[in-house]
Amino acid sequence: MTVLPFQRDALIEAARAARQKAYAPYSNFLVGSAVLGADGEIFSGANVENASYGLAVCAERNAVNALVFAGERSLAAVAVASENGVTPCGACRQVLREFGGDIPVWIVNDSTGEIRETSLGRLLPDSFTGEQLLHS
Ligand code: THU
Repeated sequence: MTVLPFQRDALIEAARAARQKAYAPYSNFLVGSAVLGADGEIFSGANVENASYGLAVCAERNAVNALVFAGERSLAAVAVASENGVTPCGACRQVLREFGGDIPVWIVNDSTGEIRETSLGRLLPDSFTGEQLLHS
């Protein structure tokens, strides 16, 4: 699916807005993410931490889970907003790959407003997917 400029802008804005809802009292590192479903709908998520640190859930996974829970199964694009423009962690790259191919990923530096475009193929080359499971 071709992502139109207005969809890209809305996705980036949704990631920025989601960042304000992060629950990150332990790291103080607020992250927001928004994903565009194949039908054009946007879902967002923020990181949610826990006193038991290892239970923190990243913004990207919360956004993907919202998309899946709405009945959507296909990702067209992703945006991630943070204070310094970080890329998704390895676990989130794999979760994004479950529902998206070589889709655009916009990385937003919320302090400077800088936006960098990369792709899931670049972030997770030679990836493992369900298609490689022999007995599925
Ligand atoms: N985090 C995300 O939500 N997404 C990323 O792409 C990187 C890391 C969160 C997890 C944790 O709550 C905090 O940022 C610090 O690692």
